[in-house]
Amino acid sequence: MEMNSASVEAVVKQVLESMLEKQITPAAGAAAGSGAVPKTARVAMLTALEHYDIKEYPIPEVGDGDILVKVEGCGVCGTDAHEFKRDPFSLIPVVLGHEGTGEIVKMGKNVKIDSAGKELKVGDKVVTCMIFKDDPDITMYDLNKQNVGGADVYGLLPDDDIHLNGWFSDYILIREGSTVFNVSDLDLKSRILIEPCAVLIHAVERAKTTGILRFNSRVVVQGCGPIGLICISILRTMGIENIVAVDGEQKRLDFAKRMGAEKSVNFKDFKGIEALAEGVKDAFGGHLADFAFQCTGSPAAHSNIYKFIRNGGGLCELGFFINGGDATINPHFDLCSKEITLVGSWVYTLRDYATTFDFLKRAKAIGLPMDDLITHEFPLEQVNEAHQANLKMEGLKIAIINK
Ligand SMILES: NC(=O)c1ccc[n+]([C@@H]2O[C@H](COP(=O)([O-])OP(=O)(O)OC[C@H]3O[C@@H](n4cnc5c(N)ncnc54)[C@H](O)[C@@H]3O)[C@@H](O)[C@H]2O)c1
Repeated sequence: MEMNSASVEAVVKQVLESMLEKQITPAAGAAAGSGAVPKTARVAMLTALEHYDIKEYPIPEVGDGDILVKVEGCGVCGTDAHEFKRDPFSLIPVVLGHEGTGEIVKMGKNVKIDSAGKELKVGDKVVTCMIFKDDPDITMYDLNKQNVGGADVYGLLPDDDIHLNGWFSDYILIREGSTVFNVSDLDLKSRILIEPCAVLIHAVERAKTTGILRFNSRVVVQGCGPIGLICISILRTMGIENIVAVDGEQKRLDFAKRMGAEKSVNFKDFKGIEALAEGVKDAFGGHLADFAFQCTGSPAAHSNIYKFIRNGGGLCELGFFINGGDATINPHFDLCSKEITLVGSWVYTLRDYATTFDFLKRAKAIGLPMDDLITHEFPLEQVNEAHQANLKMEGLKIAIINK
């Protein structure tokens, strides 16, 4: 079909009018993408306990050190569940979502590389890591401990006048001074799993500092939500096969076996901790565990786990990201006389992110069903339903996906 100049003009006019109607402007400048950036973006704002509102805010100017990302998806974390139910961080109103990923649509002229020195350009797929703070005790004495220096994370930040600071949204503004990684070589599901996987990469690194976690150690993983399941997959990629998974949900225990656990123990089948400990021992062929990972936020689980560990064994506690209350232990029987080596684990460092990218590729290469961890996908406008499904443990990892 041929068009004369008058009809071309008419078509251009029509397109421009329709863009105006939809409040769309072409992205401008050398660092803008070829696509169009809307004037406003929706965010899912937690405005009350167990209630998100979808709100719409203007997309601000992108500063010289900022990056505007079009969100593709974000996982719902066990920590979001705590915040949704109880607001333990006192953040309401807050835009949650910290397991997110998306595509750069615009970036400031000073942004050239990511936190690993890799080139960044419009169209690249990215994730964010922590926003580290300058804690003199850390900067002076132990840079490996930046994760406990009061670091912040997008999706758990106080609301501000821009609002686009959580990943349950259409767009997020990554501010100057943040940490960001170019992960264009990973598919969407893998990218959504990066943040929770980094938590477990860090936990396993902490566990290794005890000197007790070795090739083919007997390991118990208590709690088979996404965190415990990812823990199992990491142990498996390290060649550790003697893994016993403990949970009360049979479906989760079945998935633990697909992830590489050799045996599973359903705590609901046992009356009392002594019987449960015997169950764990039986699963290891008459031995207690060399090492244990505590992957629930339940005080009772922490109290119990010592009974699964042999004298001289080790324990990594990572389930208590939120204050879930005190746990009772007997310091004599549980810790001192057994000489248990206990480490806590808190989020991750930049280095753990780099390790995580490799881990995800290796886990898939040895056939672990990482993608199947994401069992439910919801659009942004169903964020409330997504969180309710998560609370009811209807699936494993629930994700918000922007189509
Ligand atoms: N340390 C960190 O940096 C960090 C980071 C992210 C999440 N977390 C925490 O990790 C925990 C787990 O996260 P998730 O997303 O897997 O949560 P989840 O709620 O999906 O899974 C918890 C699992 O523990 C099981 N469980 C509960 N009580 C148990 C018991 N007594 N014995 C055995 N299993 C029991 C539940 O059935 C469930 O399957 C959460 O509390 C979360 O806040 C910690």
